[in-house]
Amino acid sequence: MTRIVKAADGIDEAVELINKGELVVFPTETVYGLGADAFNPEAVAKIFKAKGRPQDNPLIVHISSLSQVKDVVSEVPNEFYKIAELYMPGPISVIMKKSPNIPYIVTAGGETVAVRMPKNVFTRELIEKTRPLAAPSANRSKHISPTTAKHVYDDLNGEVELILDDGDCSVGIESTVLDLSAGTPTILRPGAITAEMLASVLGEVTENGKVIKIAKAPGMKYTHYAPSVPTVVAENAAHAVAEYDRSEREGNNPVLVFRDVYRDVTGERRIIDLGITADDYARNIYAALRRAEKEYGEIIVEGLSGGGIAGSVMNRVDKAAGGKRC
Ligand code: TXA
Ligand code: MG
Repeated sequence: MTRIVKAADGIDEAVELINKGELVVFPTETVYGLGADAFNPEAVAKIFKAKGRPQDNPLIVHISSLSQVKDVVSEVPNEFYKIAELYMPGPISVIMKKSPNIPYIVTAGGETVAVRMPKNVFTRELIEKTRPLAAPSANRSKHISPTTAKHVYDDLNGEVELILDDGDCSVGIESTVLDLSAGTPTILRPGAITAEMLASVLGEVTENGKVIKIAKAPGMKYTHYAPSVPTVVAENAAHAVAEYDRSEREGNNPVLVFRDVYRDVTGERRIIDLGITADDYARNIYAALRRAEKEYGEIIVEGLSGGGIAGSVMNRVDKAAGGKRC
C-alpha cells in the first residue's frame, strides 16, 4: 500500500524504486509530481495507468543539473541557457527538440520534450542519484493538482508505493510551459514565471491569451483541475454574495473561496480564506478547492484581475469552473 515518508528519510528507498522501474511521488515548489525513469518506457507507462491519464498527453522531464539537458534534448537553443541562468531551478518547463534517447511514450509520440529543473533539494538529490524523471502532477487525471502529500494520498492511494513528503508547495500552481521548439518563444501554460519576466530575457514571447496558443499544449484540450461539485468564479464580492444567498436558499450548502480582504462584504457567510496577496491566493487555491469539494455543495471562487501571477492562477480557476462566471 501507499506510504508517506519524510523526503529527507526516503531518498534511498526512492532511488531503489526508480532503478527498479517503479513510480515515486516527489515534492516540488509547484505541485507534487508522479515520477518514473524518463528513459524506461515500461516505467513511464505505469504513470499513465496510475493516473488514468490519456496517452496523448506528454510528460515533463525533470532534471537536477544543466549538464543533463543534453541527454534529454537534441538541440539546445541559446534562449534556453538565458532562461536557465535566471530561473532554474524554478517553476518553468521549456519545450525543445527531443533526444532519440527519450522514448515516445514520454512525448506522446511527438518530436519535442518539456524539460524542467525543480527547486526541491530532495527531489534533485533523487534525480542526481538516478536519472532524469518523467513526471506529471501527482493527481488522478482531471482532478485538482496536489500541493500536499495528503492530497496525493487521497487521489493515488494504492497506485504508488512511496510518497516523499516535504510539506506544502511554496508556489502552488504548475510551472510555466514555454515552447522554444518553433519560431517565437510561446507560453503554452502561464505560471509563476510570467510573460513579462520571460520577455525581459528573450525580447519577445507570444502570450498565452489567444485560444489557438493555449490549444497547442496537448493537455489543454482536457478539462483540468475540476472539483467534484459545481464551481463558479465571481467577478466581484457583491456578485459572490448574491450567488451564495441564492444557492443557500435553494439548500445547496455553498461556500465562498475568497481572500480575507473581503470580510466586510462576505460577513458571516461560510468562507475558506485564501490569504491576502495574489501569491497567497496561488499557494492556497488547490488546497482550498479540495477542502471545499469535500465539505460543501457549491463553490464560489474569487476572480482576480490583472496579469502576472494573478493572470496565471485565474487560468487554472476558470478551468476549474468550466468557464462559469457570476
Ligand atoms: O509544475 C509542473 O509542471 C508539475 C510538476 C510536477 O513539475 N508538472 C505538471 O505536469 O504540471 P502535467 O503533466 O500535469 O502538465 C504538463 C503540461 C501538460 O499540459 C502537457 O500537455 C504539457 O505540459 N506538455 C508537456 N510536454 C509537452 C510538449 N512536448 N509539447 C507541448 N506540451 C507539452
Ligand atoms: Mg497535471
